[in-house]
Amino acid sequence: MCAEFKEFSEKDKINPPKEFVEKANLKSYDEYKKMYEDSVKNREDFWARMAEEKVDWFKKWDKVNEEDLSKGEINWFVNGKLNVSYNCLDRHLKTHRRNKAAIIWEGDEGESKTYTYQQLHQEVCKFANVLKAQGVKKGDRVAIYLPMVPELPVAMLACARIGAIHSIIFAGFSPDSIKDRVLDCEAKVIITSDESVRGGKIVPLKDNVDKAAENLDVVEKIIVLERTSGDINMKEGRDVWWHEEMKKADDKCEPEEMDAEDPLFILYTSGSTGKPKGVLHTTGGYLLYTQMTTEYIFDIKDDDVYWCTADIGWITGHSYIVYGPLASGATTLVFEGVPTYPEPDRFWQVVEKYKVNIFYTAPTALRALKKAGDEWIENRDLSSLRLLGTVGEPINPEVWSWYHYVIGQEKCPIVDTWWQTETGGILISPIPGAIPTKPGYATVPFFGVEPLILKDENNECDTNETGFLVINKSWPSMLRGVYGDHERFMNTYLKAFPGYYMTGDGAFVDEDGYVRLTGRIDDVINVSGHRMGTAEVESALVEHDAVVEAAVVGVPHDVKGEGIYAYCILSEGYDKSGDLKKDLINHVRDSIGPIAKPEDIHFVDGLPKTRSGKIMRRILRKVAEGETDKSKLGDTTTLAEPEVVDHIIDTKGKF
Ligand code: PRX
Repeated sequence: MCAEFKEFSEKDKINPPKEFVEKANLKSYDEYKKMYEDSVKNREDFWARMAEEKVDWFKKWDKVNEEDLSKGEINWFVNGKLNVSYNCLDRHLKTHRRNKAAIIWEGDEGESKTYTYQQLHQEVCKFANVLKAQGVKKGDRVAIYLPMVPELPVAMLACARIGAIHSIIFAGFSPDSIKDRVLDCEAKVIITSDESVRGGKIVPLKDNVDKAAENLDVVEKIIVLERTSGDINMKEGRDVWWHEEMKKADDKCEPEEMDAEDPLFILYTSGSTGKPKGVLHTTGGYLLYTQMTTEYIFDIKDDDVYWCTADIGWITGHSYIVYGPLASGATTLVFEGVPTYPEPDRFWQVVEKYKVNIFYTAPTALRALKKAGDEWIENRDLSSLRLLGTVGEPINPEVWSWYHYVIGQEKCPIVDTWWQTETGGILISPIPGAIPTKPGYATVPFFGVEPLILKDENNECDTNETGFLVINKSWPSMLRGVYGDHERFMNTYLKAFPGYYMTGDGAFVDEDGYVRLTGRIDDVINVSGHRMGTAEVESALVEHDAVVEAAVVGVPHDVKGEGIYAYCILSEGYDKSGDLKKDLINHVRDSIGPIAKPEDIHFVDGLPKTRSGKIMRRILRKVAEGETDKSKLGDTTTLAEPEVVDHIIDTKGKF
């Protein structure tokens, strides 16, 4: 085992290992460059060729792309007809993949189950008939609040099969968060389980759904999967058991013919302001793009075991556990547990057990596992690994080097993949056999993607100058809207830089033409690779009687990347105390979910505001990070009450 290694700096360029290149789909930078140039110069021809090669269509499109970003109109494969579940399942049944493992499931306590493509197809057809029997029709919304069990992809694919639009709610969210989402998309059915098991802990999922669905007229049916056999309430006439309905269901269900632009799913994500928005993805472009990126970026071969450790409740799980890999005919591993339970070698034990070849995870998990110590890896056989990936947040060179040496044993390229819920698929990433990597750099755009770094509306940044990362023109898996709110869609993504999609991230391009992300430029905090809007946490805090005003910022955290730090002004009659702090932290956890739990609450009597009333978060961020020197806080002359700054510095770490 490699105890000592040379730590890479950000200037190092690491060539893909020879043995990897030999078998890679794309083998050189020149090959990449040629294909990339073709993809942007001959955009429609390129995508037409790809769509024909990769996807099975019931009817071919009339036109590849039609768009007007100034109006928020985006169409790919106009009038093309297809079905996503057909592409993920049926078409493989006609090939050698019929009896190949589609899903390998590893349970929290090490239980395991495998579904071949044929078995998965059968389950999906049956469950599609269950949905129909419960009154679900094409275009209806179905909310899914399930743990990481095989029935989750079954439910997704069954929705896709009959043209219902799924909206998955991460199983760590609270009843209030479920309610907001179910109401916003008017889901008439919710699919859940009695309980979930994760890291040895039981979470009462059905109970949470019961609380959320109380007095919600939109919800007609709740389908309940038995996971633990825990005690739950079943409401007569509304609630039905998954296994009982499956027994009655026929295993034949013809896939619905869907338009390329029919919605496939809605997934809620946090933004700078207001409640989470329902990001809408459609059928044809999304399928093609996730399949293609899976094939090029993860370089999947037919006998590979591929494991993405994300939760299917987030976009990474949608695109790179379910849709991309299954459309590619890959074997995808679904893991119910957490990296550190029962011990910090859980990931490596799973890699060893299934001889995982491609491993895709988040920097936050890597930081936690590196911290746990290399002794957890020493007795594990990781020799099956061929390729490693990361996603969700910037990866620091130190962790990158550890990943490369200790986990990858210097023989696995690392793909640092940059993308977002809104982009549907990976937009910037190395193609592993073709692009030398650089620690901390997402490197180059995928085919057809044209990123730019802007200083302002009319000017691009120079080399190495940080600016706003925007994307010129759409790509097939771009979001098509914010569900039910066209204005919000326009304002959030398309108005700031007309003609471009605004990502909300800062970035620069270096002398090699490589992109490096520098973090969010808006009020979004990245906690363990998950997006949290400051406004959401603030509104949860002010819902509590003790708080009149709150301001939330992100602070560096050695495992989570960023943690949540909340400044609170108390209401009359409340005293600053440790108990109240705990109370408020628990209140946020209960009202949003454990991922929103603040690291600390800082009681203050005032907040630094400009004369126009805007909170200067820059100052709050620096004080939260521990800055006590006022002269290092930047310009404070525009503050309405500059003395507030002394007050917040003085009260740090006190009540
Ligand atoms: O800030 C970027 C960061 O995660 C944000 C998107 O979050 P979400 O929609 O939850 O999707 C996460 C998984 C795709 C981005 O705006 N981000 C994502 N990947 C990277 C990243 N930051 C740096 N490097 C990455 N590879």
